[in-house]
Amino acid sequence: MNIKKMITAVFVLCTILACNNNIGNSKQTTVNDETMEKNEKALVVFFSHAGDNYAVGDVEVGNTKIVADYIHELIGADLFELVIDKYDGMAYESLCELAKQEQKEGLLPEFQDELKNLDQYKTVFIGGPVWWGTYPQVMFTFFKKYDLSNKTLIPFTTHEGSGLGQCAEAVRKAYPKAIVKGEFAIYGHEVRGGKKQIAKWLTDIGYTIQQEEE
Ligand SMILES: Cc1cc2nc3c(=O)[nH]c(=O)nc-3n(C[C@H](O)[C@H](O)[C@H](O)COP(=O)(O)O)c2cc1C
Repeated sequence: MNIKKMITAVFVLCTILACNNNIGNSKQTTVNDETMEKNEKALVVFFSHAGDNYAVGDVEVGNTKIVADYIHELIGADLFELVIDKYDGMAYESLCELAKQEQKEGLLPEFQDELKNLDQYKTVFIGGPVWWGTYPQVMFTFFKKYDLSNKTLIPFTTHEGSGLGQCAEAVRKAYPKAIVKGEFAIYGHEVRGGKKQIAKWLTDIGYTIQQEEE
């Protein structure tokens, strides 16, 4: 073998080794990514109104909070509740009127507490009741305050007939750079016996249930 042929042979060998190495790396990256996504902690951001409500009466825990708690129990997601006390103790009809007014005027009511360490979550569930066809205005306050671009967002609602209403669309509009998928709606009056439904939804969208549902 002359020098030229030897150099060519060494070059070809190096190229093959480099390619194999790349293939190996890319496979490993994929596996690692998948593993990371499965094990990574998700966040649930939600609003829920306890008190006088349609179909369930005067409840101590709001319907959407029950769903958020299930998600926490079933896949270990962290919770961030948008707490707002202006609706406390209101009768259902008065709350409906106030909510309609807030929506009409595009008001953005403040909620308590700050959300910290948002960077640690790649996936955020976004949940609320349907109020007049979409999320309550306080959800829009959250959308304005926090940037969830480049995350995966999973909208869910509790409702009494509207399903998702305009909620998933509202999330898409607020975060055009996010991946919005896996949306889910459940009747508010069904959540108290609805843990299995929530577990099925979570399984359907790729989660492994950590705790067996009753
Ligand atoms: C102000 C207000 C407006 C509502 N508007 C709707 C609606 O447009 N469509 C619907 O299906 N349900 C509507 N509901 C019913 C709630 O979406 C449902 O009871 C929900 O489960 C309440 O969740 P929460 O207990 O977490 O607040 C409304 C309830 C309230 C209080």
